[in-house]
Amino acid sequence: MKRILVIGGSRYFGKSLVTRLRDAGDDVMVLNRGSSAPPPGVGRLLADRDDEAGLRTALGRRDFDVVVDQVCYTPLQAAVARRVFADRTGRYVMTSTMEVYDPATLPAGSGPRSAPGLPAAPVVPVVEGDLDLTRPPLRYRQEPAAPAPGDTRAQARAYAEGKRRAEAVFLHGPHGPLGPTGPHESNEPLEPTGPPFPFVSVRTAHVLGGGRAEFTGRLAHYVRRIAAGIPVDVHAAPYGTSFIHHLEMADFLDWTARQTFTGPVNAASHGAPDVLDLCATVAERLGRRPHHRVVEAGADASPFSFDRAYAMDNGRATALGFAFGRVADWLPGAVTETARATG
Ligand SMILES: NC(=O)c1ccc[n+]([C@@H]2O[C@H](COP(=O)([O-])OP(=O)(O)OC[C@H]3O[C@@H](n4cnc5c(N)ncnc54)[C@H](OP(=O)(O)O)[C@@H]3O)[C@@H](O)[C@H]2O)c1
Repeated sequence: MKRILVIGGSRYFGKSLVTRLRDAGDDVMVLNRGSSAPPPGVGRLLADRDDEAGLRTALGRRDFDVVVDQVCYTPLQAAVARRVFADRTGRYVMTSTMEVYDPATLPAGSGPRSAPGLPAAPVVPVVEGDLDLTRPPLRYRQEPAAPAPGDTRAQARAYAEGKRRAEAVFLHGPHGPLGPTGPHESNEPLEPTGPPFPFVSVRTAHVLGGGRAEFTGRLAHYVRRIAAGIPVDVHAAPYGTSFIHHLEMADFLDWTARQTFTGPVNAASHGAPDVLDLCATVAERLGRRPHHRVVEAGADASPFSFDRAYAMDNGRATALGFAFGRVADWLPGAVTETARATG
């Protein structure tokens, strides 16, 4: 039996993860600010993870085999967690995102490269090593300003940059590259600072399925439009992207919590449909014809239309022993669930 703490754990795949861990017989606790009760058989700690003193008080003298951090978005949050959990956990798993690879949110020229000489936006799926957090683009001397409400591009940049920098802090400490107290002027690769911290970042594909539980509403965007005969905004030559089913994601985190590996790992079902494939699946499921409207180059389109490539390779997790499903197998069912929830 493992002692496992889940920070967050109150909705969608975080909730499914908690019940899976409990059902496997682990000693599970969730830590959040208490907006909903944990399921029966799961302990609860109340704290705001941003409040270091309050977090230490809530944890008391407890320690854990594994912490799964579902809600780390900034280097400051990572710095607090790294300090607080340094001698309290055997392993620390942060739920990160595939958006850390997104060339659109990286400074010019610093995108992931699959091999020397390839362009910044590779057309082959990205592997974990494509993002080098030891030689990062050092952009901010301080926390980036909060994006204005409604500025979706600034929000996407802040989300991706926050996750990249949070990963860097877990890997290298707060005084390392991209840390809140790091040397923000240097482009030199830096040695890790502070004691080693056994850390995993799960770079998660777009998570779909679950009907109303899929709170981002991105699949619902397509279902509503196609059901109503409204054109979907797409790029002229959209790239494929990575997805994972919400229950597969819970399985993946549950599995990860029981392993011993460290470092970044991509989590994505097999297959990388582009937005036109996605629209075709939705239309087929609804018995409709999809209509598209091509946006101008550089303009925003619908949520899963991408004018750059950063679909993920899931080979590391596969080699470590996790068997992913295929998007093509679960997407039709996810569309049906969403159609029922929105209908
Ligand atoms: N959905 C996707 O497609 C997708 C794709 C890639 C990556 N991800 C990542 O997946 C993760 C899942 O997020 P989720 O919100 O669904 O996770 P979750 O495990 O359901 O946790 C959400 C809960 O965390 C608690 N929380 C938030 N801020 C907190 C704080 N400062 N201190 C303590 N508790 C806090 C909140 O409950 P209280 O209000 O009670 O505190 C909130 O309801 C995120 O890291 C996201 O970046 C998602």
